[in-house]
Order: sequence, then C-alpha cells, then structure tokens
Amino acid sequence: MKIVTIVGSPRQEGNTNYLVDKALEEAAKLGVDTEKINLGEYDVKPCLGHDNCASYKACLQQDDAGWIMDKFREADGVILATPVYWYNVPAQMKAFIDRHYFPYKHDQKYKAKAVGIIIVAEQEGIEDTLHTLKQFTNWFFNIGEDRIFVVNGYANKIGDVRENTKLVTDAGNLGRQMAQALKKECQ
Ligand SMILES: Cc1cc2nc3c(=O)[nH]c(=O)nc-3n(C[C@H](O)[C@H](O)[C@H](O)COP(=O)(O)O)c2cc1C
Repeated sequence: MKIVTIVGSPRQEGNTNYLVDKALEEAAKLGVDTEKINLGEYDVKPCLGHDNCASYKACLQQDDAGWIMDKFREADGVILATPVYWYNVPAQMKAFIDRHYFPYKHDQKYKAKAVGIIIVAEQEGIEDTLHTLKQFTNWFFNIGEDRIFVVNGYANKIGDVRENTKLVTDAGNLGRQMAQALKKECQ
C-alpha cells in the first residue's frame, strides 16, 4: 500500500514540505509506504496543446513528467500539496496538471482510493486553489467526497508553519485518515 505525494513548492525546506512530512510520518506509522516527489527537482515541461493529442501513442514532451505520472497513476493514495501563488497553484503544479491532457485524451482513470490535498497561503487564494485541485481530482479519481481529505491554512516565510500548530496537527491527521481509509479499502 503506497501514498505518492506531489509537491508544488520550489522550497524543499518550506511550509508545504513540512506539512507533507508530518502527514507522511503519520501514514508510515500505520504501515503505509510513502514517496514524496518535489516537482521543482525535476523537468516537467508545460503541455504543448496538440489538437491531435488523442492520436499519439505517447506525449511528445520528453521529460520527467512521464515517470512521475506513472507513479501517480499506480499509487493507492495520492497527495497533492502546494503553496498558493497568485491565488492559485504555482507553475510547477500547473504544468503537472496540464500534462494530464494526455491521459484525459486517452480516457485514463487513476487507481488511488484516497486523495489528500494540502494548501498553504500567506493570506488569500485558498478557495480558488482548492477548486483547481478538486476539479482535477474529480476528473481522474473515481472516489467519493469521503475519500478526499483536505487541509489548508496560513504560513508565509520558511519555518512559519511550525507556529501554526492547528495546521501541523491537521496535516498529521490527514496522513492518518488516509492510511486508515486505504487499509479499510484493502480489507
Ligand atoms: C510568486 C508567489 C506568489 C504568491 N502568491 C500568493 C497569493 O496569491 N496568496 C497568498 O496568500 N500567498 C501567496 N504567496 C505566499 C505563499 O503562498 C506562502 O509564502 C507559502 O507559505 C509558501 O509555501 P512554501 O513555503 O511551501 O513554499 C506567494 C508567494 C510567491 C513566492
């Protein structure tokens, strides 16, 4: 049983990664394998928007998106974690989402039975960011609302999130609840 997390922040020591680590620590305590992929470490180019995408056997962009999407597709649980940039997801996460035009055009649905969404903002934009990630989730994952676990809150500079104890606790709970949901699913 495995949870794969996609992180949109370029800051590996930042607030989003801190919350993700808390969530994954709790999931691991329940025996779930975890993997974290920081998009900023990899080459994930934007979608080129080919009208005939559906006729291609593979995406024409040759970069890291392919293997990252394979891991995402096969995971039992996934977490999408991101800061808010200009009232929505940062470019790294948007490129990852846009590259799903290929699976969308090839009618591919994903395997995960639990989805987590973690969002951090300084002060504004969580609603639109959540809307973007929920629309994406609803398209690719055939799961009910009770299997979508959302945590969001406020922090700005690196390390600030440690002082937002509610948010840190919520992130840990998200990891635990996802692990419990996956274990129940597999019984
Ligand atoms: C380019 C950029 C745009 C941002 N836009 C917003 C925004 O629209 N709303 C907001 O509340 N915070 C915004 N922020 C602040 C980040 O969401 C905040 O610092 C967050 O904690 C960063 O998470 P991280 O530490 O995981 O990278 C922005 C930060 C950057 C660098």
